[in-house]
Amino acid sequence: MFEQLKSQPSDKIMELMSQYAEDTRTNKLDLGVGVYKNAVGATPIMKAVKKSEEVLHKLQDSKSYVGLIGSIEFSRNIGELVLNNSVDKKRLSYAQAPGGTGALHQLLLLARATKSVGNVWVSNPSWPNHQAILTHLGMNSSSYYYFDEITCEVNFDRMVHDLNNMKENDILLLHGCCHNPTGANLSLEQWVDLTQLIQEKNVLPFIDLAYQGFGDGLNEDVEGLNYLIKNVEEAMIAVSCSKNFGVYRDRVGVAIVVSEASKKSVVQDNLKSLNRLTFSFPPDHGAAVVNQILEDNTLKLLWKEELEEMRMNMLDLRERLSSELHRETKSDRFSFVSAHRGMFSKLGLTSEQVEFLRKDYGIYMVSDSRINVAGLRKDVINYLASAIANVI
Ligand code: LMR
Repeated sequence: MFEQLKSQPSDKIMELMSQYAEDTRTNKLDLGVGVYKNAVGATPIMKAVKKSEEVLHKLQDSKSYVGLIGSIEFSRNIGELVLNNSVDKKRLSYAQAPGGTGALHQLLLLARATKSVGNVWVSNPSWPNHQAILTHLGMNSSSYYYFDEITCEVNFDRMVHDLNNMKENDILLLHGCCHNPTGANLSLEQWVDLTQLIQEKNVLPFIDLAYQGFGDGLNEDVEGLNYLIKNVEEAMIAVSCSKNFGVYRDRVGVAIVVSEASKKSVVQDNLKSLNRLTFSFPPDHGAAVVNQILEDNTLKLLWKEELEEMRMNMLDLRERLSSELHRETKSDRFSFVSAHRGMFSKLGLTSEQVEFLRKDYGIYMVSDSRINVAGLRKDVINYLASAIANVI
């Protein structure tokens, strides 16, 4: 039977992880997968997470099932963090899911189950798994212009030009903040304009939020999203806690649906059933850890401090890399690096240049020239900048 199977295209981020692991050079530099690293290149467990695990260790007295949609308390706490009371709670449905990817997947299943979805509009470029999941689910998609490869900024006029082709019941997939892979974000004014377009076209906004707190701050990063949610009737939000709580391998995510209050129970019922059909129960440990942090003021404060420290480190690395590139290339070509936000920046290099960096310098970035800024250390910034200057 299995001879009928075709081999699958590999995800370029995952492929890069294995290539890096196999490289025996001691000066190799991993700027690939989006994992936060500290000043010595490690990804330690956040103190708030460790302390929360200690509390759970003492308090938890059962590993029995929680429920098909996981912990509702956890989902509500995440809902508050993300939505900041921008919508009446009577209009919110939740389902805990295995990571942001799990939440994306479940929400797309929900949309598909309505049997009325047209095209799902995905930014060009986007996180590669967006398109891969859509293809896997057999859903139609279109791409919209997002990033200008020359200026390395959002080209909003061209984006709107493309989105004017959206039809009623299409879905518009947006990155809540810290756009992956580009690092180029929409301004609040642009979110306001998009909200109007979404209303005019009567399409469903679908927001992937995986980096809240990594850009301009916990609340600042969701200002655009909050404005949007305040002004639309329906929306879907896939939230990941992998990065901002550093619980990557524990798979912590939430699928949130905004609907009319009268539709809440049927939406909730469908989310529950889709969880049952896909994996039954979402994994509990990571969500319980995050919930404990959000429920306990001392732990929450500690988490916020740690998150802010990570954010400031990334900003500092951006400033340093931008000025080092300015020095090495004697140009402003890379000044966008300090204006981008979040873990990633797309540098606008060709795939050949990226390949040279890997072969000749042991520098690993995704083939579209996305770097994980958080993978940098101060002591290697000069090495990276001079290598880039040599290959361009
Ligand atoms: C990334 O984009 O590097 C992360 O979101 C990890 C992943 O799953 O691709």
